[in-house]
Amino acid sequence: MANVAVVGAQWGDEGKGKIVDWLSARADVVVRFQGGHNAGHTLVVDGKVYKLSLLPSGIVRGGKVSVIGNGVVIDPFAFKDEVERLRGQGVRIDPVSLAIAENACLILPFHGELDRLREGAAGAGKIGTTGRGIGPAYEDKVGRRAIRVADLRSPDALGPKLDRLLTHHNALRAGFGAKAIDADALAEELRGIAGALLPYAQPVWRLLDEARKAGKRILYEGAQGVLLDVDHGTYPFVTSSNTVAGQAAAGAGVGPSSVGYTLAICKAYTTRVGSGPFPTELEDETGQRLGERGHEFGTVTGRKRRCGWFDAALVRQSLKISGVDGIALTKLDVLDGFDTLKVCTGYELDGEPLDHLPSGEEIQARVQPVYEEMPGWSGSTAGARSWADLPAEAVKYVRRIEELIDCPVALVSTSPEREDVILMRDPFAG
Ligand code: IMP
Repeated sequence: MANVAVVGAQWGDEGKGKIVDWLSARADVVVRFQGGHNAGHTLVVDGKVYKLSLLPSGIVRGGKVSVIGNGVVIDPFAFKDEVERLRGQGVRIDPVSLAIAENACLILPFHGELDRLREGAAGAGKIGTTGRGIGPAYEDKVGRRAIRVADLRSPDALGPKLDRLLTHHNALRAGFGAKAIDADALAEELRGIAGALLPYAQPVWRLLDEARKAGKRILYEGAQGVLLDVDHGTYPFVTSSNTVAGQAAAGAGVGPSSVGYTLAICKAYTTRVGSGPFPTELEDETGQRLGERGHEFGTVTGRKRRCGWFDAALVRQSLKISGVDGIALTKLDVLDGFDTLKVCTGYELDGEPLDHLPSGEEIQARVQPVYEEMPGWSGSTAGARSWADLPAEAVKYVRRIEELIDCPVALVSTSPEREDVILMRDPFAG
């Protein structure tokens, strides 16, 4: 039996929610290890719709332990709102079902403001962030001036910590013409919100070590996607955390061998929200058709997603970087009814072939995709639960993708319904 890490293989929005829910039904412990409330997914359980941003997917199911790891940045106010909203839907959230790493860093109200001020000032060069303060909060973490969950336990000691933090931020804010933040007022706000987080705060590394020893099944739930990774993604058009599977260990406080199987979620075409290179982007009717059929609007910000053909070269790269054992291919049904489909197998730059996307921002913007054309299918793949239910061309498409990305398809998802899955391999079986 293996513990499983799930990551997105593209630029996020690969349909992780459904697969993570499907897996979390089989897990004992579900752990978030990076990102914050910039993530967003919708779970449909027994006909009820739950929207999650910060809390791990396991929370909506009874009898599981959900963990927010140290690699996550936590907005305590957004956390409180999400907990209250879910409780209003009848979800039980208590210190038995939820644990928060006491060494996780906080997103404070001025982080979101700074995020938006910077984006506003960047004009055409903006990243297109979610405006949730994710980047500024991670900057404070590596800048060693962040306020962490454990700091809320000693309200009287907050003063010097806030002074250090605000010396930095008030100087920045002055540059933007924004009002200075008052340390006493912020301390008061933090004292007021501390009670929302502290009952759950604990050394989660210990909880996870005990779970591992007791043979519990642990699911590490990644947010965003590998191409948004701060090191390996399309920098600087990325998020501010490591989104690769390797982060599951560092962001939860477990050893690398704790993850036995890495599953990457991968959409049968490509989408991206925000700015940045996207070699297979389709700014034509076909792109629009993919967006409409796939309901490609952001869960968190409502923004329209950019759409394009499947980029096998880029996915192959992100699977290698993340050490992926198998993929879950999602939204295959969105491709139903196309006469022909294109798959990018590599790139061309100034007439030279490239088998990967190099790191330079200028080069990434200039590469031209090299396509392989495949016949589409007229039948429906929606709701298929076995290979036999798929049109022959759809099977060929999946098999060709498997070859091009050099990784087996562990499961195919064929509709938003949880049970509409073709299962080749149970990730928990290792
Ligand atoms: P940030 O994470 O808000 O700083 O945004 C940085 C980049 O990551 C932007 O391009 C966002 O659109 C993108 N991003 C952040 N979270 C998600 C997500 O959950 N799905 C897809 N894109 C995301």
